[in-house]
Amino acid sequence: MRIDTKSRSDPLRRRLRRLGPGERREEAQAFIRLFHRENRLGDGVRREREAEITRALRRSGTYEHTPEELAFGARVAWRNHSRCIGRLFWKSLEVIDCRTVRDPDEVAARIVDHMALASGDGRIRSLITIFAPVRNNDLPVYVESAQVVQYAGYVDGAGSVIGDRQNVEATRIAMALGWRPSGPPGMFDVLPLVIRHRGRRLLYEVPPSVIREVDIVHPEYPRIAELGLCWYAVPCISGMIVTIGGLDYPCAPFNGFYMGTEIASRNLADENRYNLLAKVASAIGDAPDNDKRHLWKDRALLELNRAVLHSYDRAGVTIVDHHRASEQYMEFARHEHAAGRVPSGDWPWIVPPQASAACPVFHLPMRDLQAVPNFYRSRASDGGRLRPNYEHETRSRLQERWDRMKRRVRDWHRLHN
Ligand code: ARG
Repeated sequence: MRIDTKSRSDPLRRRLRRLGPGERREEAQAFIRLFHRENRLGDGVRREREAEITRALRRSGTYEHTPEELAFGARVAWRNHSRCIGRLFWKSLEVIDCRTVRDPDEVAARIVDHMALASGDGRIRSLITIFAPVRNNDLPVYVESAQVVQYAGYVDGAGSVIGDRQNVEATRIAMALGWRPSGPPGMFDVLPLVIRHRGRRLLYEVPPSVIREVDIVHPEYPRIAELGLCWYAVPCISGMIVTIGGLDYPCAPFNGFYMGTEIASRNLADENRYNLLAKVASAIGDAPDNDKRHLWKDRALLELNRAVLHSYDRAGVTIVDHHRASEQYMEFARHEHAAGRVPSGDWPWIVPPQASAACPVFHLPMRDLQAVPNFYRSRASDGGRLRPNYEHETRSRLQERWDRMKRRVRDWHRLHN
């Protein structure tokens, strides 16, 4: 069965931010000023570049970033992304410029290269590969899969799920397009990468040689290993759009490394994911039935976290625990303040799901400026309120009032359109 034929309404179109020509010009100029200010480039060069961009926008509705602007924009998008606890390292993001790559096979090949480079010998490098931007009405090739590596979820006859419940729909689509797991459905079958090209879906197998996986074992409870759990080394997000200076790059897979709780407290534990707490409890010799306060869950969570951290360490794969990550976030916030900037934070995302109040970030007031450059999924959710942030610029009262008014009109329009 072919479930997808050529169609005009590519789902990407419904996710992209809608910017009018004036808004795009404003974002482009704000970005260029930021780029020149933070890199201490002279005023003359900046004015020239601004004029050039204004001309290009007027002529063609779009413009092109220099490689330096692109790299800076991607790093600042990370710095601005309020949901990430790992931003202390934003400057070290390596940017691979693939803007000229437009052929889906080639996109897939570059993503394979990305995965190989990112996992290397186990010391994970934070990388982003950026493919072609949206130009006016032209949608480039992009990745539909939320991550480059993710595990299949199969619904069996009785309605229970083998594998990752989160990916049941993605698995159904892949199978409808002809994909099959290599053996009987397993708990950790890597799904193929789905690439969208001119409305069509194309499937690509990511070669196992670039997918590093870690078997989960516990330093003290051998029965944890018997559960046969594993997880992949490199979380590579491929379903987000990077917006820089008014231009959107919908195909820009990026990766960092894991914080243990993402795997142990969420992916393997959540009821709508692997839902493994009861199994972990019995593997460590706990009897959930006798614990009317349900604290067996806390014990299972703790031991699963220990197991994940221990297993990654043992395999030599980079991972951070939530206590250290929280400290690093505090340091990031201090650095930002010292640089005269306000860090954006989204509290429910930053605070780890384990030992929350014992992590310093729990007690840190946070504000989300929703500034561009940034990463977003859809204008209907996280992309809708992104805008340039002028807090570190001296702007006249009049300009500020004008900004506010424009924003109000814009928000009104978004609400009513
Ligand atoms: N939470 C997601 C997962 O468990 C990954 C999100 C990005 N995480 C990161 N450490 N860069 O797969």
